[in-house]
Amino acid sequence: MNDSNITLEFSGKYDSKHSLEYYKKHKDSIGRRLSNIREQSIARKALAIAGNPAIVLDLPCGAGRFWPLLCEKPGRTIYASDYSLSMIMVAKKLLDPATVKNISCFQTSAFSINLKADAVDSIFCMRLLHHIVKKDHRLALLKEFHRVTKDTVCLSLWVDGNYKAWKRERLELKRDHKEYKNRFVANRQEIESEFREAGFNILGLIDFAKYYSMWRIYVLRKNISRANET
Ligand SMILES: C[S@@+](CC[C@H](N)C(=O)[O-])C[C@H]1O[C@@H](n2cnc3c(N)ncnc32)[C@H](O)[C@@H]1O
Repeated sequence: MNDSNITLEFSGKYDSKHSLEYYKKHKDSIGRRLSNIREQSIARKALAIAGNPAIVLDLPCGAGRFWPLLCEKPGRTIYASDYSLSMIMVAKKLLDPATVKNISCFQTSAFSINLKADAVDSIFCMRLLHHIVKKDHRLALLKEFHRVTKDTVCLSLWVDGNYKAWKRERLELKRDHKEYKNRFVANRQEIESEFREAGFNILGLIDFAKYYSMWRIYVLRKNISRANET
């Protein structure tokens, strides 16, 4: 475990009330349900690109939205972890017990993961990176992922070069810039160079809806020569 003490301002918001709201959020309208179906589908493709890993760490696991998907591969060892204990509790309480029994949960920070080096085949990281606004924080997180995964990382984030990013940029211009900014849209070239700087190669990528949506999942492969250096 590395000794980083980075704390993100948004991390504290997932108390029990907010965790329950988050659990319900992806089921509360037809639009959200359809979007969740598409997100699950691209996450499934990402896992396939990663070679359907046998040992996966779901971090942050949130309210367990991806646990049924992760359980689709028989015999997979699944660790699930989140900064918020409330999120983990909501997942364990509300998901199907037959699913929950396959998952080993623990609380941790993604900047300082409570696992040994090379502990898992893949880290599955959905909807965290777009909250990490500072480059040095992103590099710290990616380097911690590099330490803990033996092989790949599947991660989702917001990227530019699409209609939603263009719309968001226009909205940002109208906003009060002193307002705390807790989400960011990555410039594709810059984020890809950060992946390389942290010791990963890009194995593949999948867009939620190309040219329209900001969501993209990258599948990264650990660069072993770099692993030997660090
Ligand atoms: C938007 S939710 C995404 C959860 C899940 N991956 C999903 O897509 O449903 C963001 C999650 O990040 C967690 N989180 C925030 N800061 C974190 C940190 N430093 N380390 C690990 N998890 C963190 C929050 O508790 C929350 O569960």
